[in-house]
Order: sequence, then structure tokens, then C-alpha cells
Amino acid sequence: MHCDTLWYHANLITVDGPGLGVIEDGVIAATDGRIVHVGAAGSADHLQPGQRIDVGGRWISPGLIDCHTHLVYAGNRAGEFQQRLQGVSYADIARAGGGIVSTVRATRAASEADLLAASLPRLDAMLAEGITTLEIKSGYGLTLADETKQLQVARELGRQRAVEIVPTFLGAHAIPPGREAQEYIDEVCNVMIPAVAAAGLAEAVDVFCENIAFSAAQAEQVFVAAQQHGLAIKIHAEQLSNQHGAALAARHGALSADHIEHLDADGIAAMRRAGTVAVLLPGAFYFTRDTTLPPIAELRAAGVPLALATDSNPGTSPLTSPLLAMNMAATLFRMTVEECIAGFTREAARALGRQDRIGRLAVGLDCNLAVWDIEAPADLVYRMGFNPLHARVMRGQPV
Ligand code: NIG
Ligand code: FE
Repeated sequence: MHCDTLWYHANLITVDGPGLGVIEDGVIAATDGRIVHVGAAGSADHLQPGQRIDVGGRWISPGLIDCHTHLVYAGNRAGEFQQRLQGVSYADIARAGGGIVSTVRATRAASEADLLAASLPRLDAMLAEGITTLEIKSGYGLTLADETKQLQVARELGRQRAVEIVPTFLGAHAIPPGREAQEYIDEVCNVMIPAVAAAGLAEAVDVFCENIAFSAAQAEQVFVAAQQHGLAIKIHAEQLSNQHGAALAARHGALSADHIEHLDADGIAAMRRAGTVAVLLPGAFYFTRDTTLPPIAELRAAGVPLALATDSNPGTSPLTSPLLAMNMAATLFRMTVEECIAGFTREAARALGRQDRIGRLAVGLDCNLAVWDIEAPADLVYRMGFNPLHARVMRGQPV
């Protein structure tokens, strides 16, 4: 039987099954961008490949998936970082008209071309570490025109680079300056969500449910509107306080609840029942010097799927390294090597509703690969600030 490409002399981290699903000295084959065979050396002798690639004993994992980023924005918040070094808190800065709203001002002032130029180096840093799928949220425009501009730039990033971009509408990220929360949420629900859905600009809708942002009742209003327009839902929940947002989102069938440092037992139970993924964001935990750990052991015991992401954003996680995020998850959250790697592959795919198409090395899935110059899977999590990526493959094509 013919296949397009066969990679051989490869150690495979298939992430297919409960653990890492390692196959030492394995082979993987693709045709038309899809995986058609995965197995041990010698298992592909019936295949006649158009091209054979000797991987030289390196390791192949699924291409990494970052399921939570705010990658498209203008300006930066290094000044606020310096203020925080003097003891001012993230919430204080937000209440004083800085924080998210300061990035909103810069993003509104930027043209599409400016935003694209600002975002491309961040995307390139991600790709250099093996990312093949990246979610990008809007949320720094807070008007229909400015949110649309951000989502269009997100889409354009996917045209300019070999990567799959998953756009999420986060109009309910902050109360725009000069507006009142409820009146703005009504506009998000009655005007912005219908327009974004009609233009096909986003797959999902996210909301920041927090005492400095939107209430659980307002989040629920957003979920109802999103679902009326056929969009999936996600939530920034329980980051600074317990608003019971994760349980609410789970009851509405949310794909994921993200941050969740202050999640309680009811929230865990609701997430488990709904299959809502817990997206843990160690970069934001680290950068804000949070001291409330997410309830990892309880989530694990309940069998809630655990994904990891960079939360790349200018305020709480100016991070463009999935590998460093894995190291932080292990060091700060005591997540295992298996959980860290699955968190950026199989479980991240689940958080994007793509578990049947990406995130594992299995027959029928997209052939998105990261090829690593490492001696064992743990090397990906263990090292800090070192990038062992050897090659990236997107839908069967080396890129
Ligand atoms: O994921 N929590 C809200 N949103 C971002 C922060 C965005 C910002 O500060 O600009 C987060 O941490
Ligand atoms: Fe975020």
C-alpha cells in the first residue's frame, strides 16, 4: 500500500491512551496530511512510502497545542510590572484604570498591520517550540470593530504561518472605560456575539468571571447568547476569588474552565460530570506571584481532564514558551511529566473540542508532529530555557 511519507528510527510519544503511550524505535506514516500508521519498527513493511525520513533516534510527539492565549495585542505592560515590583497589586492596577484597559487603549489605537507586526514574533516564538495549534482570544478591543480587528489579525496569523489558529471571542474581558457592566454585557450578547458568529470570526466565546470583571449572572447571559449562535463556551474562572463560575460554565456544557485557583469541591464535581477540561495556567500563577494553588490533587482524583496553556498575555503571563510552562506546571503545581506533556497535546485538544482530530499520534488524526532532540520525554519538562526542537511537521509537511 502506498503512503506519502514514512518517518522511521523514531521514538514516539503517542499520548494515545492514559499515559504517554511511548513506542521506542517506532515508525509513523502519513498520507494526505493524516496519520495512516503508527507502530513499532518493522510494523510498516507493507507500506510503500513516496518519501522516507530517518529520524535518527530522535523523539516525536504530537505537535504542541496552546489552548489559551491572548497573543494578539499592542503595547506591553512592563511599566505595570515595575509597579508591581514596588508592591502594587494586579487588582489595584486594574481598579486604577490600568491593567487590561491599558492594553485596550493600545490595541484600539493600532492598525491591523501594527497588530500583525506586534503579534508575529510572539507566534514565531511559539512555533519554534513545536506549537502546531494555537487558540487566540480577542478581548483587548471591547467594541465590535476593535474585537473584529483582533479576530481578523488572529486569522491572518494562520495564513502567514504553518499553524492552525483557533479564534475565541472574549468581548466580556473587562468593563470598557466609561461603560457600565450590565449595559456592556447586553451589547456583547445582543450585538457583538450575533455579529461575530455571523461573520464566522470565532468558534467559542469566553468570559472573565471575577469581582474585577463580570458576575456569574452576567457570564450566564453570555453563555446563553453564545449557544444560541452555535458557539462553544469557555470561562476564565476562580482566578482571584471564588465566583462559582466554573460550576456554572460546566452546567452549560463548557469546553473548559481556565485558571481555577479558587475552585471548590462543587466546581470540581460539576466539571467532572460535564467533562469540562481544567485548563491550568502556571505562567499567570508564577507572574502574579499567586499563592493559592489550583486544587490539582482533587481534580486528578476526580478524573477531570487537565490541560496546560501559556495564557500568553501582556498583563499576567508575558510567556511564549510552552516548554517553560510545562516546567512551571511540574515545579509549581507538582504535575507529573505525563500530565505536563498530555496537557499540551491530548488534553489541550480536548479543551478546544478537537480531541478526535489532533493531540495524539493515532491513525486518522492530522499528522502534526514535533521532532525533539532529547534522550527521554522527561527532558521536555525538566530543562528551563532550552529548546530541543529539531523539526515541526504540519499536516504531513515538514515546515
Ligand atoms: O488570563 N484574567 C483575565 N485575563 C488575562 C489577563 C489579561 C491582562 O491582564 O491583560 C488572564 O490572566
Ligand atoms: Fe487568559
